[in-house]
Amino acid sequence: MKPYELESIAQALVPPGKGILAADESTATIKRRFDSINVESTETNRRAYREMLFTTPGTEQFISGIILFEETLRQTTQDGTPFPELLANKGIISGIKADTGPKDLAGFPGETVTEGLDGLRERLTEYRDLGAKFGKWRAVINVGDGFPTQSGIDANAHALARYAAICQAVGLVPIVEPEVLMEGTHTIERCEEITETTLKRVYSALHAHRVHLEGTLLKPNMVLSGTSCPVQAGVEEVAEATVRCFRRAVPAAVPGVVFLSGGQTAKLATAHLNAMNAIGNCPWELSFSYGRALQGPTLEAWEGNAANISKAQKIFYHRAKCNSAARYGKYTQQMEVLAA
Ligand code: 13P
Repeated sequence: MKPYELESIAQALVPPGKGILAADESTATIKRRFDSINVESTETNRRAYREMLFTTPGTEQFISGIILFEETLRQTTQDGTPFPELLANKGIISGIKADTGPKDLAGFPGETVTEGLDGLRERLTEYRDLGAKFGKWRAVINVGDGFPTQSGIDANAHALARYAAICQAVGLVPIVEPEVLMEGTHTIERCEEITETTLKRVYSALHAHRVHLEGTLLKPNMVLSGTSCPVQAGVEEVAEATVRCFRRAVPAAVPGVVFLSGGQTAKLATAHLNAMNAIGNCPWELSFSYGRALQGPTLEAWEGNAANISKAQKIFYHRAKCNSAARYGKYTQQMEVLAA
């Protein structure tokens, strides 16, 4: 694939007013989500849930792409249409979770390194042939007493760069996801410092591995106070710290920054994205690639019951619409009031 073809896929994932739905929960993660609503995590239920999300009428106005788990990439709708085909017919681009998850980093208690490089080229080639156009690899940076260390950050940056280079070699756009976790007692200042260091190490590794930045997207955390920090930064402070940090560390060649929600409430994740876009004047698109912030309220309304599909789809549509407005800095509390 030519570099300009990767660039056009990357750009098609971040057009004005649109963002990404992360629906690539691994079997273990979706089980935790289903446990929270007392639904058994069977293949049938996972398929039904994802069909409900993907067939929500009108969401293609707000959703450019959906990240799938391998099982979903191979599944079909109830009437037999493969999910990637269903999405392509709606103008939605399919992506694939490429990593096999974080594992303890030997010698560094509290830190992890994400695995999945062995055999990656062959797996990605198959995913591409099944209809995937982009990949995602999530590196997890834990924050605690004495970590992250330089070694922990570099091990993850190196794996992200190897993954990104392999993606581009087989014709997929890599979404590069270094997530500094929000769990912890750390202040927003510490989050900013660790996020800036991590992003700089990641871009240094991407450069060393000859990754074509114009054909990538970044999926980062926002700069936030740790969830157990006694002082919680407000929406404006989060937006300013995040934009300042990214201006320092993310090259302008990257077409888009698509945030993860990381455990923030759905409304707060939307408010933060909105405040960042209201600041404006950034070299990259500032968009979303939310999992929980789009799915949380939807899952609760669904409850595993087919009779609740239409109610759940309305909620999913509303969250997608609010995040679309936040892409322009035009999200208001009134939008939530009107929907309630
Ligand atoms: P959250 O928005 O729930 O953090 O999920 C995004 C994601 O894809 C994490 O890898």
